[in-house]
Amino acid sequence: MSGGSSHRKCSRKSKDDLKIIDVGAGTGLIGIELQKLGYSNLHALDISPEMLKEAKKRNISKRFFCVGLSDQQISEIQTGEFDALICAGTLLTGHIRAAAFEEMVRMVKHGGVICFNIRDNQLVDYQAKIRELEKAARWEVITKNVVSFFESKEIFDKSDAFFFFIFNF
Ligand SMILES: C[S@@+](CC[C@H](N)C(=O)[O-])C[C@H]1O[C@@H](n2cnc3c(N)ncnc32)[C@H](O)[C@@H]1O
Repeated sequence: MSGGSSHRKCSRKSKDDLKIIDVGAGTGLIGIELQKLGYSNLHALDISPEMLKEAKKRNISKRFFCVGLSDQQISEIQTGEFDALICAGTLLTGHIRAAAFEEMVRMVKHGGVICFNIRDNQLVDYQAKIRELEKAARWEVITKNVVSFFESKEIFDKSDAFFFFIFNF
């Protein structure tokens, strides 16, 4: 773990209490994995009503937000409403842009966690905003790993996975 700020306060909530939002939830595959790990206070956000219709069938998430994440504030979501935010496979061209990190940070409480992955070939579009928020102490990296998980050699086979600890002042 990098960083190591003395003012870091990790949540002591139980897994059942941790309020987690899955951004770009799609059909809810991440929700299934989080449920297997014991998390149950799950919420899903996706721009596509069709995707959310499928996610709803799984009966895992408590609340669904059908809205596109951008730099605009989502009125139904309060500032600091969530303990954690996960965003998998959605930070890429034509989906969620770097400017939306501001709104991600807004919806996660002080001391919360944001976790996302970006493919190697897309990182260039997000790096400046990631650094800007780091410099402004709006978030702090906990870990950054490069993982290879794509089986098809026809697509890029590496993804940078980031875990940010959030400071909302
Ligand atoms: C590749 S899928 C990933 C779905 C899911 N996270 C998973 O890992 O299975 C990308 C999802 O992001 C959603 N999406 C694209 N742009 C979005 C935006 N601006 N805000 C919210 N969701 C978006 C799409 O509708 C789609 O469901």
